[in-house]
Amino acid sequence: MSRSVPAPEPVVPRSVAVIMDGNGRWARRAGLERIRGHERGIDAVRTTVTECARLGVEALTLYAFSEENWQRPQREIDLLFKLLQRFLVEERPTLMQNRVRLLHAGRRERLPPPVLALIDETVALTRDNAGMQLCLAISYGGRQELVDAMRSLARRVASGELSPGQIGEATIRGALYQPGVPDPDLLIRTAGEQRLSNFLLWQISYAEIHVSDVCWPEFGREQLEAAFRDYGRRVRKFGKVL
Ligand code: FPP
Repeated sequence: MSRSVPAPEPVVPRSVAVIMDGNGRWARRAGLERIRGHERGIDAVRTTVTECARLGVEALTLYAFSEENWQRPQREIDLLFKLLQRFLVEERPTLMQNRVRLLHAGRRERLPPPVLALIDETVALTRDNAGMQLCLAISYGGRQELVDAMRSLARRVASGELSPGQIGEATIRGALYQPGVPDPDLLIRTAGEQRLSNFLLWQISYAEIHVSDVCWPEFGREQLEAAFRDYGRRVRKFGKVL
């Protein structure tokens, strides 16, 4: 008699990061314009945020707009920011109900002022929420984050506030965009791609990587549970012998 191996239980990671890929492909396959894929992607964002908050994830970081995304057609950029603005307004009650605290990671300089204003307002509104931290990476690049961190540390050294010998991992972490967000335990990427795409290069050092074959608009509860189940299978040694 064959005995089946029970599927591992899903394990809820403390910190999760997601590269939401495949909006364009999903739309093309459905015979729609690329931007329709981003619109549908919002539903997947909503499900992932509420489900992670419900399950007790402490921090969720979503790659919403990369430094490289500035090279997309202006029409697509405008639509992405429109969707983002709508999300920041319409989801406020859900963020409050779920006690989610919003944070932003990325360069502020190139963001349109109305987008920045809505980010700042939502960050301020949710500041005292003690539940999950939702960090939106917008106009974000991992290398750019390290450049900005090094510049700020160099300024402190130049002013005499810090000596080079005092710079260590903790000082560098402190100079990142969101030092309070714990390093991701699990990085999820959709649409089958196996790349980091300049995401959280410092923070991702020991993250487990789960690649989901579905495009982001199709990512739902079932796919999140599969990712947590896969995570539950991983043996994390952090370079040590167990
Ligand atoms: C990648 O798909 C997705 C993006 C560049 C943007 C992700 C944005 C959203 C899901 C909507 C806004 C986000 C929030 C948090 C409200 P792609 O266009 O690169 O897909 P493709 O590789 O198939 O072309």
